[in-house]
Amino acid sequence: MDLIQRAKQILEKNWRGGFTVPTDKLYPFQWNWDSGFVSMGMGHFRLDYAIEELDSLFSGQWENGMIPHIIFHSENETTYFPNFDFWKAEVNPGAPDKPKTSGITQPPVHGFILEELLAQHPGDDTLMAFARKLYPKIVASHRFFYHYRDPNKEGLVFIFHPWESGRDNSPLWDESMDRIQIKEGEIPAYVRRDTSLADASERPTSEQYDRYVYLLELGKAHQYDGAGIAAESPFLIQDSLINAILIKSNQSLIRVGKKLGMDTAEVEEWQNQAISKYREKLWNEELGCFTTYDQRAKKQILHKEIGGIFPLFAEIPTKEQAQKINDYLMGLHHRNYYICPSFDVDSPLFDSKRYWRGPVWPQMNWMIYQGLKTYGFHETAKIARNDLLTLVEKLGFHEYFEAQKSVANTLDKGYGGDNFSWTASSIIDLIHNP
Ligand code: GLC
Repeated sequence: MDLIQRAKQILEKNWRGGFTVPTDKLYPFQWNWDSGFVSMGMGHFRLDYAIEELDSLFSGQWENGMIPHIIFHSENETTYFPNFDFWKAEVNPGAPDKPKTSGITQPPVHGFILEELLAQHPGDDTLMAFARKLYPKIVASHRFFYHYRDPNKEGLVFIFHPWESGRDNSPLWDESMDRIQIKEGEIPAYVRRDTSLADASERPTSEQYDRYVYLLELGKAHQYDGAGIAAESPFLIQDSLINAILIKSNQSLIRVGKKLGMDTAEVEEWQNQAISKYREKLWNEELGCFTTYDQRAKKQILHKEIGGIFPLFAEIPTKEQAQKINDYLMGLHHRNYYICPSFDVDSPLFDSKRYWRGPVWPQMNWMIYQGLKTYGFHETAKIARNDLLTLVEKLGFHEYFEAQKSVANTLDKGYGGDNFSWTASSIIDLIHNP
């Protein structure tokens, strides 16, 4: 069976009547940014599902505008931690009673995903009607970021939990997470589920997990949107990726809004401030890439990692900055890495197997590919696309992949979950839109 057929089958199998799980067993609910990519992939062959996917995600939107990072559509599924009863989203009066949700968010991809769907189906009446309905909800989710996550009105938004970044245990977070010293009895007892479903060597350590729980409890103590979070959280980060994706989606909202006859003034205002602040605060000339900013320590986090490439996708870099990012990616290619390792391969913190500490991630390649094309780096774009296709062809539709070609050649499968939805979606779109 060809790749595209296999990919469609995976999405159909992961469909749970109204929404799609990222993969069977390991992630049994609906995840925020995963659902965006799923919708884009589904759009190519089941527009009805693509629409329903987004509709069900937004059914978990809070009154404050936040799209939670997990929507627990089933309350009987007990194989996941932290489940809805641990999050207790009801501490916030604006959280829906049903569906149950988590209390934090994830990269806001839905603005650009909506634009992708509209480009796939120009003039489709059902989609146009849906777009009109969804548009203000996406705007509200951006307003949430600017209102609750940008207390100094800089145009850059913060996250207070690594899970919000989408790159859960990137070494970027190590220093901030090390600030968290947990005293006996300070966090409630809990049982992890992920390590019984996936190889423990590919998952975060238990010490890291305790700190994730600590930050979750801190959020809960402040109803997940209180000002106390910015005041107290040891983890307070202006993330390169979240902010780039927010800017990218703003851009899409402005274009789509104009087509739909919506008022785009508010989004344009956010956008003007965001782009210039991003360039000014996050670029690091010595590293030759964009960084993530630690607001607690008031400094850039000095690592070359995958988030620093994302401004390309949002058309933030100047020509010179973009050239440096492209040189970095080409350098990795010439050194026999698949594009794009999630962390600096020359850092002692690089771990080619563990979660976000080194491997290649399919949906990231999809976005990097688009960014490279936008700047006219067609050769590198082709490499990013072909690398992903090669990895999936050789190692299956996994969650993430070995980045070192010499090691990948000795393997017969990828890492993490198998039959993964965003891997399938990225492949479908890359094949449809070369
Ligand atoms: C992991 C990833 C996160 C993703 C989730 C579901 O937690 O780090 O980005 O959304 O899995 O695929």
